[in-house]
Amino acid sequence: MTHTIICDSLTKTYKVEKKRPGLTGSLRDLIKPQYKSVMAAKNISFVIDEGELVGFIGPNGAGKTTTLKMLSGLLYPTSGSVQVLGHDPWLREYPFLTQISLVMGQKNQLWWDLPAIESFSLAKDIYNIPANLYKKNLSELTEMLDLSKVLNTQVRKLSLGQRMKAELAVALLHSPKVLFLDEPTIGLDVVMQQVVRNFIKEYNNTHEGAIILTSHYMEDVKELCKRVIIINEGEILYDGLLADVIAKFSNEKIIEVILRSGKVETHKVPRDEVTGRSAKLLQNLDIVDINIKEIPIEEVIRQVFASANKNKK
Ligand SMILES: Nc1ncnc2c1ncn2[C@@H]1O[C@H](COP(=O)(O)OP(=O)(O)OP(=O)(O)O)[C@@H](O)[C@H]1O
Ligand SMILES: [Mg+2]
Repeated sequence: MTHTIICDSLTKTYKVEKKRPGLTGSLRDLIKPQYKSVMAAKNISFVIDEGELVGFIGPNGAGKTTTLKMLSGLLYPTSGSVQVLGHDPWLREYPFLTQISLVMGQKNQLWWDLPAIESFSLAKDIYNIPANLYKKNLSELTEMLDLSKVLNTQVRKLSLGQRMKAELAVALLHSPKVLFLDEPTIGLDVVMQQVVRNFIKEYNNTHEGAIILTSHYMEDVKELCKRVIIINEGEILYDGLLADVIAKFSNEKIIEVILRSGKVETHKVPRDEVTGRSAKLLQNLDIVDINIKEIPIEEVIRQVFASANKNKK
């Protein structure tokens, strides 16, 4: 079987203008601009297979959006190669475009002044979606995303959550085989984040295809992605099971004890000392309950970045 996505040593360097300080600096910038390069992606290599939902995580400026743009053909890599469904994305061939979708939480695809349903019918024409498939997908997505009441409302009048749901629907009308989701839950309240998350989970369970998801919310990643690719300053730090990140990078656990007085104490202890330390705590304190927990995934990921940055210095 061939892989759905193959990235091989993908590198992207942006050329950006160097700003010089002060008024004279600005004038000199205007007359003779100086440039520096920003390496947003460095030798990114991975493969993704049919059916996978992979979390692509990293701090601001790590290179996530840049990579997704190269995978969807919006940006040309400085070096390296990409294959998505056997296509070179950069060629933007019609058979490629009709099989992928990119949803960006920060940007909209829907026409602002028109009701969402108008953008949907436009998508039907652009993607040449057969009438019966369009009808089926429209009714399925409307139902799954609870959109029936808002489809005829001008998009500018929708709430952020309603608009995000409509963005997801329009992106899926043509049944893409590869879906790039760049921060689909950004800015949503916790309830709406959960709604979008549930939708992504259900969609992934009931449809063929591969999904790459970026998010700064670890809840999204925890609930949706078995596999994560962690990227920092354009480089992949880790690619594997989320569960293994915890085992690999977090050598501590948390012992939480609830004392008879009602006070809750937490103790961070090395993994291999958990039993011994628990026994000692039980012996020495008046404890009514004890829980042993993993360190929150947010903190583990922070540790991954901290150790990567330390190694660089
Ligand atoms: N069009 C551009 N021109 C110049 N530099 C850019 C451009 N787009 C991104 N960059 C730079 O490339 C790096 C990676 O940016 P990118 O948007 O891919 O990060 P990201 O991981 O998506 O971050 P975020 O989590 O904030 O969305 C950053 O240093 C950014 O400033
Ligand atoms: Mg981004």
